[in-house]
Amino acid sequence: MLKILDKSFVPFITASEIKSEVSSLAKSLNEEYAEKDVLFIAILNGAFMFASDLFKEISLQSAISFIKVSSYQGMSSTGRVDEIIGLTASIKDKHVIIIEDIVDTGITIEKVKKLLYSEKPASIEVCTLLFKPDAFQEKEIPKFIGFSIPNKFVVGYGLDYDELGRNLGEIYQLKEGSDPERNMLNIVLFGPPGAGKGTQAERLIEKYGLSHLSTGDVFRYNIKNNTELGQLAQSYMSKGHLVPDEVTIKMLRAEVMKHPESKGFIFDGFPRTNAQAAALDELLTSMNSSINVMLALEVEDEELKTRLIKRAEVSGRVDDADPAIISNRLKVYKNETEPVKSYYQSQNKFIGINGLGTIDDITELLFKAIESL
Ligand code: IMP
Ligand code: MG
Repeated sequence: MLKILDKSFVPFITASEIKSEVSSLAKSLNEEYAEKDVLFIAILNGAFMFASDLFKEISLQSAISFIKVSSYQGMSSTGRVDEIIGLTASIKDKHVIIIEDIVDTGITIEKVKKLLYSEKPASIEVCTLLFKPDAFQEKEIPKFIGFSIPNKFVVGYGLDYDELGRNLGEIYQLKEGSDPERNMLNIVLFGPPGAGKGTQAERLIEKYGLSHLSTGDVFRYNIKNNTELGQLAQSYMSKGHLVPDEVTIKMLRAEVMKHPESKGFIFDGFPRTNAQAAALDELLTSMNSSINVMLALEVEDEELKTRLIKRAEVSGRVDDADPAIISNRLKVYKNETEPVKSYYQSQNKFIGINGLGTIDDITELLFKAIESL
């Protein structure tokens, strides 16, 4: 058994298994790309060892470039700009083979491909030593794969845990049970637009030290800064429609991953569909955690309309100002969002809260519900 920092790992893929798989990948590449104008691009840091062993067995006349992908954090949440560092060779009209140590969600590789395509290569394929099919979220599966592995954390042969373990000649897998269920408090705060979720969320955050994830806020931030995601989200939100699951889930996953040490999350405005709820369960399971409860603020339609119109006067939110848009949002809520209740009811995790009354009264009910868990 191997110990790195606080985690224990067990042997998973031996050095000789790696060696023979690297040889067979090299053989496939040598055959497939014979006669072609090829450029290898290896992604640092993780791929250095795989790239080195693989390249020794490549018989094509080809150069190799090592690149890094950097993502600058913008002012807040998803304002990210990605950039490739270190690509000096021209890739125009070249057949590019990207060398990766591991493809997990596939988000990294998708970004790299997108950036490279803008320079008009003849083709781009991915050769990865490891692939986690159960974690993969993108459409295009890497063409050359060494080992398809379960969705568990691995180290060694270039792969790190907190920058350690890259020097190991074999690959190790995180030991089952070495990471006990994390003691997080994860709450889905639910309710129609105007129910008071934002106000109550602030109080819960203060009391329990939670991280607040409001999909609405993240969307609005992106819209304000006119990002790609913002433009996409805007086209749906301005009509009172929901932003599609695929976009929302990706964004949320990125947000959750920014708070790895959090005491827990308040999900505000999410999940809005059963598919999102299932995706959220999966995400939390991968963090050794789960949703504790859905707290649903219950308020009548007429009261909601009055509150929203009042809010628009203060906040200037356009989606609050127009009665027709409000009606549509409430209708969408009833038809598309409310069914998510049953997802949590069936897991015995649903608590309804009377959302009429003073802000303090409602806060008190929420605290009681949480203490009762
Ligand atoms: P992606 O999720 O496919 O974008 O992978 C992003 C990066 O996460 C990879 O390039 C690795 O650096 C890292 N990564 C993903 N899974 C593992 C793992 O099991 N061990 C170590 N690093 C990993
Ligand atoms: Mg990597």
